[in-house]
Amino acid sequence: MKYNFDKIVDRNNTYAVKYDERVKNFGTDNVIPLWIADMDFETAQPVKDAIMKRAAHGIYGYVSKPDSYFQAFCEWQKKRNNWDVDRELVSFNPGVVPSLSAIVKEFTSDGDKVLIQTPVYPEFYEVVEAWDRTVIDNQLIENNGVYSMDFEDFEEKLKQGPRLFIFCNPQNPVGKVWSMDELRKITDLCLKYNVLIASDEIHADLMLWNNKHIPTASVSKAVSDITITCTSCSKTFNLAGLQASFAVFPDKKSKERFDKFWANLEIHRNNCFSLVALEAAYREGEEWLEQLIPYIEGNMEYVIEYCKNHIPQIKISKPESTYLLWMDCRSLGLNNDELKSFMVNKAHLGLNPGHKFSRSLSGYMRMNVACPRSVLEKAMNQLESAVKGL
Ligand SMILES: Cc1ncc(COP(=O)(O)O)c(C=O)c1O
Repeated sequence: MKYNFDKIVDRNNTYAVKYDERVKNFGTDNVIPLWIADMDFETAQPVKDAIMKRAAHGIYGYVSKPDSYFQAFCEWQKKRNNWDVDRELVSFNPGVVPSLSAIVKEFTSDGDKVLIQTPVYPEFYEVVEAWDRTVIDNQLIENNGVYSMDFEDFEEKLKQGPRLFIFCNPQNPVGKVWSMDELRKITDLCLKYNVLIASDEIHADLMLWNNKHIPTASVSKAVSDITITCTSCSKTFNLAGLQASFAVFPDKKSKERFDKFWANLEIHRNNCFSLVALEAAYREGEEWLEQLIPYIEGNMEYVIEYCKNHIPQIKISKPESTYLLWMDCRSLGLNNDELKSFMVNKAHLGLNPGHKFSRSLSGYMRMNVACPRSVLEKAMNQLESAVKGL
């Protein structure tokens, strides 16, 4: 079936954080919301059908997790990423961030160090600090808008003895897809210093321009023995509100430890809608995803070209994955508070401030382009006028 990503769907008053929490976040609802990472597109028809069929049943009691749910996940990984996942080592969990938090709690101790690479999804800081662990930061290197890893610094940081490395593969916010060469180098160092890897692969299905995702755990058997992969199709199919994700463990012992964490909280059942929705997405959603990707690519090209031609003060490099753009606004000459206020009060855009992704950064913003093109056209016109008025 042909999907129409140009269609405007009104999300106001649906409790959508992106819309209904604008006043809380920006002090006004007079901003086009291009922030938190979900999409303004309806999900794939088979997913909607599965949820509607389940909803029509009318009874929403306790549910068990069918084997077919986990099999659907494993088959998707094999098909899309050529990754053989042992179903016995896959856990259900209510989100990737909750899983990362559980991993920090269960696999490190009070006061331990945890390594991250910034700029990165801000919750990487939060899940570490929430459990009184200390963040060590191996900053990515930026060269003309292109990001790469600083392997020398990574090794120096490993010498400080972190117990865990939380890895963003692919990378949010810079949209980097890590190559096999980069993955080998980084995982060799983790093996050398005996550091556990929690690999967040939630954006893995959102590969642009024929880039290819390589799951960290698929690099080698030795690497899979030190890697816990946290992923979901919640970004891929816009299902974040259903609160369901997967974690893949190196062995039964570590999986049991993780599962016990959730069991102790009495969190061990899916909600009935996420079960049918995720399985339908994995089994029947690919057609939708294949239409979504070119639309996102088009949106990215549109914004990048617009800035190049009309707002050269804002520089954006083409990302390789995700639906997020990392905007270098340093030439506007504004500090972080001024930049946020400028975007909200002058451009009327609700974006994510860059310094949340790296506390030492200033002058960056992140824009979510997973919305109809007409919304972006309006947003870019507003941004151009605001910059001209500076
Ligand atoms: C890298 C990364 N991990 C995790 C999440 C959120 O995961 P969840 O909603 O499953 O907790 C996001 C959402 O933007 C993300 O970008």
